[in-house]
Amino acid sequence: MRVLSGIQPSGVLHLGNYLGAIKQHIELQQEHECFYFIANYHSLTTINDPQRMRELTADVALDYLALGLDSGKATLFRQSDVPEVAELAWLLSTVTGRGLLERAHSFKDKVAKGLPVNMGLFIYPLLMAADILIYRSDLVPVGKDQVQHIEMTQDMAGYFNQTYREVFVRPEPRLNEAYTVPGVDGQKMSKSYGNIVEIFAPPKTIKKKIMSIKTDSTPVEDPKDPTACSVFAMIKLLASPEETKEWEQRYRQGDMGYGEAKKRLVELHEQTFGVLREAREQWASRPDDVEDILAAGAKRARVIAQEVMAEARDACGIVTAR
Ligand code: TRP
Repeated sequence: MRVLSGIQPSGVLHLGNYLGAIKQHIELQQEHECFYFIANYHSLTTINDPQRMRELTADVALDYLALGLDSGKATLFRQSDVPEVAELAWLLSTVTGRGLLERAHSFKDKVAKGLPVNMGLFIYPLLMAADILIYRSDLVPVGKDQVQHIEMTQDMAGYFNQTYREVFVRPEPRLNEAYTVPGVDGQKMSKSYGNIVEIFAPPKTIKKKIMSIKTDSTPVEDPKDPTACSVFAMIKLLASPEETKEWEQRYRQGDMGYGEAKKRLVELHEQTFGVLREAREQWASRPDDVEDILAAGAKRARVIAQEVMAEARDACGIVTAR
């Protein structure tokens, strides 16, 4: 099966987006042919600062490589290195009704919030469908918020195939396991809430963040409810099941302060991500090697895209110069 997913460069990686997506992307490389790309064209709908765009794009590659993406197994590339996707988005736009795009939740949410909506945001699902269809992807691992976009992709593939001929494969969404990762304030961890615990920040920063996690004022000696505690929730994500069980008992027994649990969480974070932080620093010091991986990935991806695109053009009667 061919697996494909796009990652919008969006800033510092945190526990929530690692557990909610990247970890699963990397695991899939063992079983399937995987294509992962940095969705820089999509990011242009919200980021208009070229320097930031360059940095964020580079960060995604470093994050994936550090976290275990194996460029011998999976194909990692920048969306824009296969410009044919923009061309396919155009073809799809001519067989897709405006009403379909108007029903997109992501678009409606932005309108409802009164945010400025550029045409790129409106036609975002067309480009996403092109991303998926141009590689004849079978499976698209995404979070819940993206499932509607995959359904729209299925619709668009159908419109095209019915209007012309069977060119596109119908992709299926594969829901990423939903982790509820609480942030330092107890709300869902999210960059927009400013409550994240980073993956790769320096140990000192991580320690400070973890020590600042909000806990209640139950006295040390009293029993505590692990299910109501963000520190415990994070321990559970990083510790072995046995250790998690022990902490759960210690919470319920009492005679344990939150400070102790936080200290252990700092250690667990370092044990889990310390080596990976070093790996990331290594990659960051070898930008040419990273570039080679992205270039090789783009080359592999583009061969497929050009083949599919040639078929799609031919299906619509678009003749190209020899
Ligand atoms: N819209 C996706 C997100 O924000 C990113 C994305 C772009 C994508 N193109 C894609 C995901 C194609 C899967 C397949 O998360």
